[in-house]
Amino acid sequence: MKAPIQLRLFPELAERVILPCPVNVASIPQRSPFRYPGGKTWFVPTFRNWLSNQHSKPELLIEPFAGGGIISLTALFENYVPNVVMAEIDEDIAAVWKTVVDGHTEWIANEILSFHLTKESVIEKLSKVAGNDREKAFQAILKNRTFHGGILAQGAGFLKNGENGKGISSRWYPSTLAKRFLNIKLVAERILFLQKDGLEVIQEYSHRDDVVFFIDPPYTAGGKKAGRRLYRHFMLDHERLFRLCKSIKGDFLMTYDNADEVKEMARKYGFQMRLIPMKNTHHAMMEELVIGKDLVWMDSYPLVHEPIVEYKTENLLNCTMKE
Ligand SMILES: C[S@@+](CC[C@H](N)C(=O)[O-])C[C@H]1O[C@@H](n2cnc3c(N)ncnc32)[C@H](O)[C@@H]1O
Repeated sequence: MKAPIQLRLFPELAERVILPCPVNVASIPQRSPFRYPGGKTWFVPTFRNWLSNQHSKPELLIEPFAGGGIISLTALFENYVPNVVMAEIDEDIAAVWKTVVDGHTEWIANEILSFHLTKESVIEKLSKVAGNDREKAFQAILKNRTFHGGILAQGAGFLKNGENGKGISSRWYPSTLAKRFLNIKLVAERILFLQKDGLEVIQEYSHRDDVVFFIDPPYTAGGKKAGRRLYRHFMLDHERLFRLCKSIKGDFLMTYDNADEVKEMARKYGFQMRLIPMKNTHHAMMEELVIGKDLVWMDSYPLVHEPIVEYKTENLLNCTMKE
C-alpha cells in the first residue's frame, strides 16, 4: 500500500507566513562565526519557509558556496534536515569549517578567548605562516573580524574607525565568538565539509531526489570588479551553474543579483524568479533575485514580485505583426 502523500512538511509554518519586509536581521539567531560579505542571515526566514513547503523532509541540504554558512547552520540547529554538505573553495574559510568538522572547536574558542587584540598583535599573528588548518582558521577569523567589511580578498585593509570609534577591535567579541564555536560543536558531526568547486558538488548530488540545494554564488553585478572586492574566488561559469541546476532532481533555491544576464539565463532554463527586498550593508533598500523550480509559496510575502520582462523593440514589433 502506498503511503499517503504528505502535502506540507510543517503545515503550521507553511500556512501563509507573512514576513516583515525587509527582515530585521537582529531577530535571527546569529550562529556563524563569520561576518560575511553577502551573508544570508536576512534570508533565513525565507529559507525556513521554503523548507517548510517541501512535500517530504529532505535527507540532505547542500550548500555549494558556503561562505559564512548561516543557512546550513540554521538548517541543522532548527532540524530542517538531518545532515548538510558545505562546500567552499577559499582556503581561509575552508580552514575554519575543517577545524569545526575535525573536532577542534574548543581549541579555536580558547585561542579566541586568550588573544589580546591590538593592531600590533594582529599584525604579528597574521605575519606567521600557519602550521596547520587550526592556526589558519584562527588567522581567518582574526582577519574576518578586523578587516574592513570582513573581506578576506586581497587588498582588504584593517577597520579604521569601526563601531563607536573602537577601531580594529570594534568587531572582536571574544566571548560571543567562542560561544558560537562551542555551539557549532553540537552539530559538527552532521556536517560534511568539502574544500572544492561547488559546481562539482552540485553535479555529484544532482541525481538524488531526497536532496535540496541552497545556492548562493559569487555575484555577477558590477562584473569582475564587485566580485573581486568581496571574494578571492569571484570567477564562476554562471551558464554552467544554470545548466547544472536544470539537472537537479530534488529542489533548489538560488539567490543572485538582479542583473539582466542572470534573468535571461533563468528564463532560458525555464526557472521561476521573484524579487525580494533587502537592506544592504549601507542600509539602502534593494532587491535580490530568488530563482527556483516553483516559487509560488513566496507570493504571500509583501513586496515580493516577479521581475518585469523588458521587451526589446523587435519583440514588440513581432507581436504587432502577428496580430
Ligand atoms: C555569496 S558568497 C556565499 C555567502 C554565504 N551564503 C553566507 O551566507 O555567508 C559566495 C561564496 O562562494 C565562494 N566560491 C566562489 N567560487 C566558488 C566555487 N567555484 N566553489 C565553491 N565556492 C566558491 C566564495 O569564496 C564565497 O565565499
